[in-house]
Amino acid sequence: MPLGLNIGAPVRVYSGSMLEVTGLHKRYGDLVAVEDVSFVARPGEMVGLLGPNGAGKTTTVSMIAGLLPPDRGEVRIEGGVVHGETDPVKLRLGLVPQEVALHDELSARENLALFGAIYGMRGAALASAMESAFDVAGLADRAKDRVSTFSGGMKRRLNLAAALLHGPRILLLDEPTVGVDPQSRNQIFSSLEELKRQGKTLVYTTHYMEEAERLCDRIIIIDHGKVMANDTLEAVRRLVPSVNVLEIGVENPGQDGWLDGLRAVEGVSAAAWDGSTLRVTVLDLLASSPPVLVWLNEQNYRCSHLSSQRADLETVFLTLTGRSVRNA
Ligand SMILES: Nc1ncnc2c1ncn2[C@@H]1O[C@H](COP(=O)(O)OP(=O)(O)OP(=O)(O)O)[C@@H](O)[C@H]1O
Ligand SMILES: [Mg+2]
Repeated sequence: MPLGLNIGAPVRVYSGSMLEVTGLHKRYGDLVAVEDVSFVARPGEMVGLLGPNGAGKTTTVSMIAGLLPPDRGEVRIEGGVVHGETDPVKLRLGLVPQEVALHDELSARENLALFGAIYGMRGAALASAMESAFDVAGLADRAKDRVSTFSGGMKRRLNLAAALLHGPRILLLDEPTVGVDPQSRNQIFSSLEELKRQGKTLVYTTHYMEEAERLCDRIIIIDHGKVMANDTLEAVRRLVPSVNVLEIGVENPGQDGWLDGLRAVEGVSAAAWDGSTLRVTVLDLLASSPPVLVWLNEQNYRCSHLSSQRADLETVFLTLTGRSVRNA
């Protein structure tokens, strides 16, 4: 990593694409890990890379970060191609890796100082960068504590602070909320929302569809390396038009196979019972809800409540791949 770069320089406002990824492709032997991933992200935008285990998320992020050479395709940062490991353009990029990379026996502050040293940062510039990274990660009050006393969620937040230290304009986050407690998860979400407001460009991989739905402007759904959807959040939602899910509390559910008759009702595309709620997927809420209720009534099922949900990304994934993202 080159030393002496002016890391503390004010962020230049760039009106074009901050990050341009074109036709990224990676193969391991016969396995196509990533097939033709392309997208453009501007300052203040967040791109979600969604898919189950083994989909190709880390491989894609590693290629964008310059850690893995693509077989084909190109990554441009502010219009320029990154040339090799020591290209100063790489300093505009920060990576929060999937695996937490910290020294347990050192304090949070000492860990950040080590990351700072990698980027040639010291003195007042390092101190002020550390302060703002701790603030964003919500760890200012734990800076002096040893990492070995941190919860899993706090370690994840420190991992995020480490990636922010050198003031990158693009942040790549590889499943930053896996295994974290709800408090840390909310803290990470507010940090990311703040970074978006500051105009950073974010690439976020996850297999939690609801996270992408909350945070991302553009969604890429990948499965077995193949891009199943790649568009704005709204456009991806429209891939499964008019899908609604009826949620019905049934007080006296039947034995195995009790939903077979319901699945045969016209307009019903799926029906599932999770032990407390019946979820019926229908293509047309107005046309299909009455026959569903009539069927339940005719079979003498008692209903405690009824509500409907619009299609979420989970439903989109299910429709595109035939599988749930969690059980894929
Ligand atoms: N170095 C490697 N050699 C061979 N195959 C690899 C290598 N790295 C990844 N793969 C394969 O490429 C595919 C994509 O892996 P990748 O780690 O990108 O998935 P992922 O979406 O990040 O999954 P996870 O959610 O489990 O982190 C998988 O089938 C994986 O086994
Ligand atoms: Mg991964």
